[in-house]
Amino acid sequence: MAKIIGGVTSSHIPAVGNAIANNLTQEPYWKRFFDGYGPAKEWLQKHKPDIAIVVYNDHGLNFFLDKQPTFALGCADIYPNADEGWGLKPVASFQGDAQLSWHIAESLVEQEFDITMCQEMLVDHGFVNPIRALYGTHDVWPIKAIPLAVNTVQHPVPTAKRCLALGRALRKAIESYPEDLKVVIMGTGGMSHQLQGERAGLINVEFDLETMDKIATDPEWMTQFSNAEIMRMAGTEGIETIMWLVMRGALQDDAKVIHKHYHAPISNTGAGVLVLENN
Ligand code: DHB
Ligand code: FE
Repeated sequence: MAKIIGGVTSSHIPAVGNAIANNLTQEPYWKRFFDGYGPAKEWLQKHKPDIAIVVYNDHGLNFFLDKQPTFALGCADIYPNADEGWGLKPVASFQGDAQLSWHIAESLVEQEFDITMCQEMLVDHGFVNPIRALYGTHDVWPIKAIPLAVNTVQHPVPTAKRCLALGRALRKAIESYPEDLKVVIMGTGGMSHQLQGERAGLINVEFDLETMDKIATDPEWMTQFSNAEIMRMAGTEGIETIMWLVMRGALQDDAKVIHKHYHAPISNTGAGVLVLENN
């Protein structure tokens, strides 16, 4: 049977792709941020998951303001990279597993999560940068990956509670897949940031640290907040952090904290890395 071995969360700042492409990762501005991935990389090296479910948000590449699914699952065998900024060369395409995707889609719909199935999907910095920070850059990626897109762009955005419930449904879906696969769940985006308006530049270190702590030990904590309250505390784009709850819901309640790192600011954002392991 497929087994979820753990979860990794990471911010997805687009400037990270530029730092990697231009060999800036050891520069003083970037070093501490990239060093924060060290133990997460080691954990992935040691456990070698076969496939990652990457919970991320599309930034206008597949879905724009005219059409915006709340939850969309990649059901393809290949996901090409394309991006919306920095003029960077796309990285190699990611190999998926359409058979597993369709199993997850069937199970989620049966559990009353009416997701959009995508037989073609491009992936942007939201998907690519966490993988590059965790694995380096490859012509052939050492892990397969399935995109699970959550709308954090066009309101109404799903609640924290709904995201946690989606994670729990995802756990059931994966654990009922008959093939022996080691699966890691990646929760990406966040943490606090606001890119526009009067509060542009907002970062809330205290809220980020509490969020990281609670997502590990008491994820229901976040479900007490409305999206308006989360955005008031974490900034309008800080709402992306709800995607970490999909990862958390997919893991066991007593999953162990393996690694936690926080660095702010980087680009415009408070950036966190969290590794949780199922027993
Ligand atoms: C930044 C962060 C984001 O999550 C994003 O989508 C765009 C930019 C930033 O920190 O600059
Ligand atoms: Fe973003």
